[in-house]
Amino acid sequence: MNLFDVYPINNIAVTKGEGSYVWDDKGQRYLDFYGGHAVISIGHSHPHYVTKITGQLNQIGFYSNSIVIPQQKELASKLGQISGKEDYQLFLCNSGAEANENAMKLASFHTGRKKVIAFEKAFHGRTSLAVSATDNPKIIAPVNETNNIVFLPFNDVLQLEQYFSEYGNEVAAVIVEGIQGVGGIHLASIAFLKSIRALCTQYNAVYIADSIQCGYGRSGKFFSHDYAGVAADIYSMAKGMGNGFPIGGIIIAPHIKPWHGMLGTTFGGNHLACAAAIAVLEVFEDERLLSNASIVGAYLKSELLKINELKNVRGEGLMLGFDVPEEYEQLRKNLLEQHFIFTGEAKPNTIRLLPALNINTTHVDELINAIRKEISLK
Ligand SMILES: Cc1ncc(COP(=O)(O)O)c(C=O)c1O
Repeated sequence: MNLFDVYPINNIAVTKGEGSYVWDDKGQRYLDFYGGHAVISIGHSHPHYVTKITGQLNQIGFYSNSIVIPQQKELASKLGQISGKEDYQLFLCNSGAEANENAMKLASFHTGRKKVIAFEKAFHGRTSLAVSATDNPKIIAPVNETNNIVFLPFNDVLQLEQYFSEYGNEVAAVIVEGIQGVGGIHLASIAFLKSIRALCTQYNAVYIADSIQCGYGRSGKFFSHDYAGVAADIYSMAKGMGNGFPIGGIIIAPHIKPWHGMLGTTFGGNHLACAAAIAVLEVFEDERLLSNASIVGAYLKSELLKINELKNVRGEGLMLGFDVPEEYEQLRKNLLEQHFIFTGEAKPNTIRLLPALNINTTHVDELINAIRKEISLK
């Protein structure tokens, strides 16, 4: 049987990982500034993570949500504490798209309304409503087309106000990334997030903070929306939450009430997934990853800013991007093939850096030296 060929892949088979390095099947070492698409938060095969998951698997790996799973409560309590959202409620699922799907569905249940506002260049996932709220017609199948999603320009307070003043009573939710990831590392302005908060409150709509890529400490704060000093009604999360173990979730403000059967999942919140997520948060605390992301992120940004050939260096913490002028268009490819460094990209010419949150300045220097070398060769 062949694989369904949907991914343009690099011909590299990674067989081992440790911290911010991975090794291929020929023994070549790579520095990982991509984290498998912002997923690796505490480094590959972190010993505490491995011990915790292995220990859990030796006890029990899975049982469904028809029984008490104490690890879910432990995870909720730790997550509340670290994120500062102790009064929120946690619903667990398996991926980012699923988290957004549940967030938008919940907003619709809560308000009894159908319209969701999303923004240009947004990416929210590939399931039905999540993909409809994603600004990329190529990945929206005819069956996912809906008039219930409205796209407005990102960071445009006036247009948002105008839309609310005309249709505000039909709006179930506004869904917004604090920092657009797939769209190319674009920061939501503080004024924009504050106006989303104010309008959602005024019109009883739900503010959904898609924190799947920009959240979970990546920006140096637990949620990038925290930079605006606003509290969203629902935060969706996945990626770094399980450091590669599939787990996603939404946290829900206390005024949104559940009823039995409202949401559900077979796999979400299973013992093994919770053990992985608890281990991640324990490492967050032990290694002070929020502050590391902030400090090392600032160092990385300042080093990138010193390289004049890189344009529009931007981002927060360890979610950084820059544009590559045409004459250096091979930069990302050469970083991988000549210097063995993984980075991310956003079309047409942005390099995205999404490393583990416990990288250090030596890793940064390795990347910066490689970029400088590539640029000086031109
Ligand atoms: C902001 C954002 N939302 C949602 C998703 C979808 O997550 P998943 O691929 O886990 O479904 C992604 C994935 O890249 C994302 O970056």
